[in-house]
Amino acid sequence: TDILKVGVAGLGTVGASLVRILEAKANVLANRCGRPIKVVAVSARSRSKDRGVNLDGLTWFEDPVELAKFDGIDVFVELIGGEDGPAEVSVRTALETGKHVVTANKALLAKHAVVLSRLAEDKGVSLNYEAAAAGGIPIIKTMRESLAGNDVSRVYGIMNGTCNYILTRMEREGLSFAECLADAQRLGYAEADPTFDIEGFDTAHKLALLTSLAFGCEVNADAIYVEGITSITTADIRAADELGYRIKLLGVAQRTDTGIEQRVHPTMVPKSSAIARIDGVLNAVAVDGDAVGEVVLVGPGAGGDATASSVISDIVDIARNVSMPVFSQSATTLETYVPARMRAH
Ligand code: NDP
Ligand code: HSE
Repeated sequence: TDILKVGVAGLGTVGASLVRILEAKANVLANRCGRPIKVVAVSARSRSKDRGVNLDGLTWFEDPVELAKFDGIDVFVELIGGEDGPAEVSVRTALETGKHVVTANKALLAKHAVVLSRLAEDKGVSLNYEAAAAGGIPIIKTMRESLAGNDVSRVYGIMNGTCNYILTRMEREGLSFAECLADAQRLGYAEADPTFDIEGFDTAHKLALLTSLAFGCEVNADAIYVEGITSITTADIRAADELGYRIKLLGVAQRTDTGIEQRVHPTMVPKSSAIARIDGVLNAVAVDGDAVGEVVLVGPGAGGDATASSVISDIVDIARNVSMPVFSQSATTLETYVPARMRAH
């Protein structure tokens, strides 16, 4: 049988879930793909850490770049994190040496999408990233495939599980920002540096990817107005409540007469709206397409198993020989920009 051999770099919240689920579902996945998927090699910092997964028989690499070069794998899965450093070097190396790459790393793609996607296309390999936007929600496939017949006018939503979890618990339980953030970290929702979550940068990274898919422009995370939730207090949440609103951190990209406006900021949403009812770690992404109308996807935005679900869908595509353009760059001359009314902030 033609086994798809997988190397996993990073065995933290997402990597450990991935290895466990691939092992537990080996038979069902082999049936669904027509060939077995097998993790054969892994890399992380600490070899002795108990990760609750069985690593017996797997080849261990101290250095993820060595795993990326290893010719015993067909697919390199990057679950380390960080926009540069070992994540960037190992992904680039894997592509250069002709491996398919799957990553959940939106910080990496927000910065290096143009170079990495061209490299993947030059080498004729896949660069799949379903888990990089809104965790377990299949929004990348939805935009790349299911909505391909639409001109999109707007994509927006709640794209960070940590922030939505914090805002929900502050509102419902009156807890402090710090307590809620500590719980989000304990549950594996937050980034290694949670500043990315609470200052809005993680939402901006995801929005930049969705903007490119929606409008065919280059990924441009620098052209986003970004404001996080660190200045939101329980008093703000109570005041919004009295006026009939909830506070949500939204990412919004929309077509305007002059280009694509991109912004991330806390927003008062009417309690009667669907988006106001998205609680806890859930995310929601809405896409307005000219043919279909508005499509809204709701689901877990973070967490090991939910995110591994998306990573597995990317590996399954490779096992089935399904390949897609990474982004649809150069399909448009539209520019992305920070809205004028926000530049003064
Ligand atoms: P963790 O911090 O839990 O895990 C990171 C893993 O990478 C650890 O196993 C760590 O090793 C390993 N690692 C870190 N630095 C190095 C290095 N220099 N060399 C080799 N290995 C290294 O992260 P997550 O699992 O939470 O996230 C992984 C990626 O998935 C990130 O890009 C994140 O943004 C993304 N993501 C995460 C989601 C979530 O809910 N957690 C959801 C969607 C995307 P060790 O264990 O030995 O310390
Ligand atoms: N830290 C991110 C979040 C992980 O909380 O949404 C999922 O991308």
